Amino acid sequence: MCGIVGYIGKSNTSEILVDGLKELEYRGYDSAGIAILKSDKIEVYKALGKIVNLEEKVSHNECTLKEDGFSIGIGHTRWATHGKPTELNAHPHLGEYSYVVHNGIIENYKELKDELIEAGHKFVSQTDTEVIVHLFEFYFNQNNDADLSFDLTIKRLEGAYSILLITKSQQNKIFFMKHGSPMAIAKGKNEGEILFASSDAPLIGLASDVVYLEDGVSGVASSSGLTFSTKVSWSTLSNSKQFAQKDGFRFFMEKEIYEQSDVVVDSMMGRLQDDSISFDELDPSLLDGINEIKICACGTSYHAGLTSTYLFERFSKIRCSIEIASEFRYKEPLLTKDTLFVVISQSGETADTLEALKMAKNAGLKTIVVCNVDNSSMTRVADTTILTRAGIEKGVASTKAFSTQAVVLWMMALSFGDIKNNISKEVLKKEIKVLREVPLALKVEDSVHEKCKRLSKRYLHGHGFFFIGRDVFFPLALEGALKLKEISYLHAEGYPAGEMKHGPIALADPELFTIALMPQHLHYDKIKSNVEELSARDSTICAISPLPFDLADDFINTKKTDHYMLEFFEMLIVLQIFSMEITVRLGNDVDMPRNLAKSVTVE
Ligand code: AGP
Ligand code: GLU
Repeated sequence: MCGIVGYIGKSNTSEILVDGLKELEYRGYDSAGIAILKSDKIEVYKALGKIVNLEEKVSHNECTLKEDGFSIGIGHTRWATHGKPTELNAHPHLGEYSYVVHNGIIENYKELKDELIEAGHKFVSQTDTEVIVHLFEFYFNQNNDADLSFDLTIKRLEGAYSILLITKSQQNKIFFMKHGSPMAIAKGKNEGEILFASSDAPLIGLASDVVYLEDGVSGVASSSGLTFSTKVSWSTLSNSKQFAQKDGFRFFMEKEIYEQSDVVVDSMMGRLQDDSISFDELDPSLLDGINEIKICACGTSYHAGLTSTYLFERFSKIRCSIEIASEFRYKEPLLTKDTLFVVISQSGETADTLEALKMAKNAGLKTIVVCNVDNSSMTRVADTTILTRAGIEKGVASTKAFSTQAVVLWMMALSFGDIKNNISKEVLKKEIKVLREVPLALKVEDSVHEKCKRLSKRYLHGHGFFFIGRDVFFPLALEGALKLKEISYLHAEGYPAGEMKHGPIALADPELFTIALMPQHLHYDKIKSNVEELSARDSTICAISPLPFDLADDFINTKKTDHYMLEFFEMLIVLQIFSMEITVRLGNDVDMPRNLAKSVTVE
């Protein structure tokens, strides 16, 4: 996700654009840039990293106002999905005489780029975005009609995009389109002023009426007003910037839990076809000679990796194991060159994981990093980087990073199985169909949130929690326990359900809370008998399941689905919300829990 801004008006355009981008920095800051239409040319400023670097470059000299006294500009702060965070890949992107800024992913950018190169267009960046401006000029050069050219352009785009485009061929217009990524448009307080932004934070104080565009709405803005492709409804702008940056949620963690349904769409975009899965970044020959996969990570990323060990062996039929990075580094591991070394990290900076990656690299192993931050240390060491595209994760307790990691690793397992011819096309197509249902499984139902909020009052004072599950629900249990521990400071353990009878069941009593993950489609009878053993010893049971379970003291009913991985993501939401609501009741800082850091760059 990134941030885009636009402005038409008589105030200082560069100042308004840069200030607007500062309000959107929470959406990404790999690079930033602005483009301003001056009387006879387009002036562009770009910088790597945070907005402050751009600000140093922008000369806030009074914009050369156009003959009507208006000036026009667009701006962008980037969270890279295609192409490293470099100045060349920074937006706005230029054709010959037009500039575009874009939030989202153009899924069919490769075929469009090939077509445009064939037609003589020259590309300078590695981004998907650049095809937009060249496609616009391809049409404009044919029909000399900017409105028609913009319409023809957006009809060719597939994927998620909110776009602002300016062109010297139509000097008093900003063309806009919203599809899958957010865009707000506001009428400024001054005469004829129009402002654009990815969220309403930059608009607060500058405007009072705002329209949040629905998908598929496009149009043109000029000093004489706005035209939309369909009827839109205006509303009054909120007045709290903090509230706006959290998009109206109480905490960044809450916002990021709710974002999961959308960001996993980005994680899959351009990678999932109806009968195949491919990663632009991954050359299939990487698997030549590979007979084992070794995964290495920490914390929540370790839990995603442990989940994937089940999926890699199930779908790619390649032996797969996982190591905790801080252990791996010092155990004098036996590494062979037929092992593919996969590290997983949201930040790409975790010291233990980074050192483990360097050890594998120095031992001559092929390496992949599954990461959420491009241009982080790990992406500069690994042979291949696969981005999770979760967007910035501000909450210290990782949420959307986990779900996007799990989806990407599941896709990798299927893709590897396909490359190695170890799974049938039928199985692949079936799993792809299920992957497409994950966004729905991650949608937070109000009823589930309310249930967790109500239940949380009963679980504030026990002598501890066991989170139990089987197969992929064991790493999910570990993740649920970690979420609770790290924000509520209550003690919790994730445990394989089948292992409880080998000792831990001695702890069973009414003060011991057991959160039991009971999926319908994976060993239900086994997990049911494990929970009955605990219930028989008076443990307080909270069952999470699509099937009713009358021995539970509390029960959170998840939606019936037809695949255990959909149950997995349904239950993930419950675990995340449950931990957050307990923490709210305890009065802890949800986003910045004590003793923790978002990225552990020390040993
Ligand atoms: C998870 O909620 C924690 N913030 C922590 O365990 C985290 O997952 C771990 O430090 C690994 O971070 P990384 O994914 O950035 O490498
Ligand atoms: N896909 C575009 C890029 O990588 C836009 C990413 C974003 O939304 O920041 O530049």
